[in-house]
Amino acid sequence: MPTSHDEDLEFAVALAGQAGELLTASYERAMKVDRKSKRDVVTNVDYASEALVIKAISDRFPGDAILAEESGRQHGATRTARSRWARRAWVIDPLDGTVNYANGIPFFCVSIGLVEEGVPVVGVVLDPLRGDCYAATAGGAATLNGERVKASDKDALGDFVVSLAIIGRGGIARERRVAHEIRIGRRMGSAALALAYVASGRFDAFVQNGGLSLWDIAAAGLIAERAGARVSDLYGAPWWNVTRRGPRLSIVAAPPRHHGKLLELLREARTTVETRR
Ligand code: IPD
Ligand code: CA
Ligand code: CA
Repeated sequence: MPTSHDEDLEFAVALAGQAGELLTASYERAMKVDRKSKRDVVTNVDYASEALVIKAISDRFPGDAILAEESGRQHGATRTARSRWARRAWVIDPLDGTVNYANGIPFFCVSIGLVEEGVPVVGVVLDPLRGDCYAATAGGAATLNGERVKASDKDALGDFVVSLAIIGRGGIARERRVAHEIRIGRRMGSAALALAYVASGRFDAFVQNGGLSLWDIAAAGLIAERAGARVSDLYGAPWWNVTRRGPRLSIVAAPPRHHGKLLELLREARTTVETRR
């Protein structure tokens, strides 16, 4: 059944494809890598991908706001006042997984989300190397390359393979306590792609206790949710919260019957949300 955002979705999928081509063309080629912080880098490819995406959105939807990681502050949507979100805003991560990308690790993506009146309504996450395009609209199903996907239906938490990134002081030790209850945890380095994986059961769940920004989660959070996962912050509150400035967001995404247990384990391991990495 067509939903009211099908056209936006079609546009976002095509645009992610164009940005993805750019990322693929420059992958494992010489690139300019600048340090953003001790653990973070940005490349010329991040900027080029972002410029491409911003131009395409501004051409097609000149009235829409854009919040994009590298330059979003110039595009009007980063102030946290709710009124800023009373219209349409595109929330973009032009390259999620930059450290992987710059190191030649083939796990990264383009993430494009559309938020209307403060609510995510379209999400597209593209892994350009595999050609995997995860997508969803608020009223529709989650898809992978056009085919409907669903979150994990495993019975036992003990069988879960979880994208698990517990950041902050003592993170690895705390992670181990949670890892005890699941099959295995994996740190992937691209939150958007790993969260999108929850939509098709490649990951049974996704946990990151902080350090996330709106552009990391806008698209993939919606996609995981529309695939049937329960998505919240570390405390079980709504995952999408435009009043919080990044990187302060956390995500716990899991099939509904295991979500509560994961929150409990995280609480027991005293994983409080960290605001800085
Ligand atoms: C980062 C990645 C990483 C997550 C960080 C993000 P970037 O985004 O998604 O997996 O742990 O919180 O900032 O810098 O590669 O776009
Ligand atoms: Ca990111
Ligand atoms: Ca990024």
